[in-house]
Amino acid sequence: MPSLRELYPIPDIDPCWTVPQGFEAAFDWDYDDGRKQMMHLYQKGKDMQWDALTRVDWDEQLGEENPMGIPDELSGIYHTPVWGKMSDKEKAHCRRHFQSWTISQFMQGEQAALICAAKIVQQVPDLDAKFYASTQVMDEARHVEVYKKFIERFDVAYPMTKPLQTLVDQALRDSRWDMTYLAMQVVIEGLALAAFNNIRETASNPLAQMVNAYVMQDESRHVAFGRVTLRDYYPQLTQAERDEREEFLVEACYHMRDRFEGREIYEHLGLPVDECVAAQQQSGYMQAFRSMLFQRIVPIVRDIGLWSDKIQAAYDKMGVLDFANTNYDALVARDNERAEEFDEINRQKRQAYVEEVAALGASGPAAE
Ligand SMILES: [Fe+2]
Ligand SMILES: [Fe+2]
Repeated sequence: MPSLRELYPIPDIDPCWTVPQGFEAAFDWDYDDGRKQMMHLYQKGKDMQWDALTRVDWDEQLGEENPMGIPDELSGIYHTPVWGKMSDKEKAHCRRHFQSWTISQFMQGEQAALICAAKIVQQVPDLDAKFYASTQVMDEARHVEVYKKFIERFDVAYPMTKPLQTLVDQALRDSRWDMTYLAMQVVIEGLALAAFNNIRETASNPLAQMVNAYVMQDESRHVAFGRVTLRDYYPQLTQAERDEREEFLVEACYHMRDRFEGREIYEHLGLPVDECVAAQQQSGYMQAFRSMLFQRIVPIVRDIGLWSDKIQAAYDKMGVLDFANTNYDALVARDNERAEEFDEINRQKRQAYVEEVAALGASGPAAE
């Protein structure tokens, strides 16, 4: 199994990234019973652990020409002369790089989530939240593991893209625990859920669908954790403090919508970067995708009480205000259903295999 650094097509990547930390670790000597909803989430976190090695059917392979089976029409540069001029071989090469970049960002983001969850364990004042966050630490470690194993199949991987790194840096560097939640559990995990959903629903490759479906089942809990904690906390702050959080949210949302361009892929592939990024920005599909990214963020922002006229106006301007009325529980129920569908498919495959082997045994020569 190669180190992923050998798969990065970009030279001179630092093997380590460090973010300075300055915060107080908090102990909770009360040991009270904890909030009912938080303890329920904690129980679910314990009950729903799974093993990437055994739950995913790793016998499934990626496609040669189009690894995850994503329709070309969904590529940001599909309608451009750049794409039109490529040979079939060049197109296959680009698809592999585009898709590997996306999955690499998932993997790198999962490591960021692992580190943020560990920070929350230390900083959050209540023991019930520390309990839950500790299950998230384990979830995120498993997610890094599953995406690392998946990205190896592409034979190419990308480092964390700069715009994501900027947001992760803010999430970690801020000494206030709720800001880590806001950046990670609300913004980054909200965006990630939408991006995972996009692969789960548009890829035709079963391995790509399955990996994302399983990770999503856990991520819904992480967003719920942010929701339960912050809904309790924000009413205790002053309006000025809430305003500061709202400003951060709007800025972070714009940042992620407008800067998540993947310029490094075009650079590496030797394509005209500005032309490709402009085509991507204008592509109808990408515009729809960029707005869908907020489907899982806006309802949570409203629910945690950061919902002044100012933030509503900002979301309205971005064209995502209507997501406030999303039936969030229905999305979570669907995430669970999709993961269970893959469990059932894998169970049937195992059963068919057992029957096949048993039938071979029955028709073969009797053992001496
Ligand atoms: Fe995760
Ligand atoms: Fe997560």
